Amino acid sequence: MFRAEKISRSFRSGTVETTALRDVSLKVNPGEFVSIMGPSGCGKSTLLNILGTLDRPTSGDFWIKDENVSRYSEAKLAEVRRRHIGFVFQSFNLIDQLTVRENVELALRYRKTGAQERRLKAGLAMERFGIAHRADHRPSQLSGGQQQRVAVARALVTEPDLILADEPTGNLDSHHGEDVMGALKSLNDEGATLVMVTHSPAHASYAGRTIRLFDGEIMTSQDNSVSQSPREEN
Ligand SMILES: Nc1ncnc2c1ncn2[C@@H]1O[C@H](COP(=O)(O)OP(=O)(O)O)[C@@H](O)[C@H]1O
Ligand SMILES: [Mg+2]
Repeated sequence: MFRAEKISRSFRSGTVETTALRDVSLKVNPGEFVSIMGPSGCGKSTLLNILGTLDRPTSGDFWIKDENVSRYSEAKLAEVRRRHIGFVFQSFNLIDQLTVRENVELALRYRKTGAQERRLKAGLAMERFGIAHRADHRPSQLSGGQQQRVAVARALVTEPDLILADEPTGNLDSHHGEDVMGALKSLNDEGATLVMVTHSPAHASYAGRTIRLFDGEIMTSQDNSVSQSPREEN
């Protein structure tokens, strides 16, 4: 589904060069759920952005669904994102000129879904994440946790086959964190491929596999199905 081969990403500002990713190779199979952990600044968000084609590697090659997208034009990449990918960002990226409902419907508008179906699907997604009672508010009128739930509803309303989530439970209390994890897991059970960055070992263990990044490199890749019951560790 995703295949990265020796991907590196450096950022240059003035004379200072930061290498965020160093020769990272990674394969994510269709239907897999992979979690990514690692200390702050180790390159997790950079990797996720590259997987989602929001950023390009400085070197290396990258495939989505057997298509080498490394040299795709920006327009073609936008099309790949629109058709296949749902993002849940660490910063919510909600549009404050729109209501909660309009924010959630936006992803469906991009897919040219009709008004009636948009309203229905957005309504269901808002119910599922406990924000339906805030449908006509602006995002800035909501708490951080509520805004995160709007961002999750917006990412999942299109039922994308690839979901990229950057600390989706980072701003949530444990109850709503479990809600979001349960929803992500059920989408994965229904066939969506999922890559999620998290700081929570409990949430990481929902994934079949956990990759640990350190200083821009993959240190370990752990199969979670073989360890007894990691979810009960904390
Ligand atoms: N747009 C950017 N410009 C310059 N440096 C960046 C940029 N994005 C990330 N970095 C640097 O790359 C490294 C990895 O960042 P990031 O992927 O955001 O880490 P993480 O998500 O693991 O906290 C950090 O040193 C960060 O400062
Ligand atoms: Mg990050």
